[in-house]
Amino acid sequence: MAGTPVEVHGPGMRPRRSGEHLLRVGALFLGGIAAFIGAQRLLVPKDFGAFGHYRPGALADNRDRPSAYAGHATCEGCHTDVAETKRKGRHAGPACEACHGPLAAHASDPSIKPARPDARTLCVRCHAALVGRPSRFPQIQPADHVPEGASCLDCHVAHDPALGGAR
Ligand code: HEC
Ligand code: HEC
Ligand code: HEC
Ligand code: HEC
Repeated sequence: MAGTPVEVHGPGMRPRRSGEHLLRVGALFLGGIAAFIGAQRLLVPKDFGAFGHYRPGALADNRDRPSAYAGHATCEGCHTDVAETKRKGRHAGPACEACHGPLAAHASDPSIKPARPDARTLCVRCHAALVGRPSRFPQIQPADHVPEGASCLDCHVAHDPALGGAR
């Protein structure tokens, strides 16, 4: 007869009404959705979505991070002699911190004395001959170019590297 609940039996099972399994699955599904909404409420930051699909507070977070690089104009403001030497030579292009590394801490407090760059590792980073470098960029084969035990700075000046540069 249509509409009459059908009893389903199995060995050792209590009789169940047909459709009960659907309710269970449905309840599980609703529980899942509730858990998702609960977790979302807890985990998504409060200001997310205020202006769009992002968290506006991230802008402030990034702004508040201390900067690592001071920028070459800042260095040049104090080290006018170096800036003058460098401006006239072949190293006019690379910025101070390309060789010296990030020195914002020193620039805001000069009593924090920075180490001098180590020419043994510094210069070859840009000048060791590599196939991928533009052929017009000055490149050397360190093994052929540098006499045993010599330093680049025995013959070149860091801030004005062409031979006959500042000394
Ligand atoms: C507010 C001024 C000021 C600014 C800005 C500044 N410096 Fe200095 N710097 C100094 C002073 C002062 C000394 C210490 C000089 C000394 O003891 O002979 C120094 C020392 C140094 C030294 C070590 C020199 C040595 O004798 O070993 C280096 C390298 C250096 N600065 C690089 C930089 C770079 C690169 C920047 C930019 C990121 C910079 N400085 C920005 C004032 C400044
Ligand atoms: C091509 C790499 C390079 C660049 C670019 C560079 N430096 Fe240097 N700098 C060096 C090296 C290497 C030394 C160490 C020299 C030595 O030990 O004799 C040095 C030394 C110094 C010193 C110590 C004192 C001296 O004159 O030797 C200061 C100060 C300094 N640099 C500041 C600056 C500033 C300011 C700028 C940007 C205007 C700058 N440097 C750009 C590589 C560089
Ligand atoms: C951040 C990259 C960089 C580093 C590190 C660097 N240089 Fe340079 N160097 C340059 C650039 C850029 C030029 C200019 C190339 C040009 O004018 O076409 C140059 C030019 C030169 C020249 C002039 C070449 C010529 O044909 O006259 C010499 C010599 C030189 N560098 C030596 C050095 C030495 C020595 C060091 C280490 C103290 C060094 N460089 C570190 C980028 C670098
Ligand atoms: C014994 C002295 C001496 C030493 C040490 C030395 N050089 Fe040179 N370098 C020269 C001379 C001389 C020239 C110019 C003649 C030439 O092109 O060979 C030159 C030229 C260069 C050039 C320009 C090459 C070109 O084709 O335009 C670069 C770049 C250079 N050197 C980088 C370096 C680097 C980096 C070191 C350290 C790894 C170094 N040099 C060590 C003497 C030296």
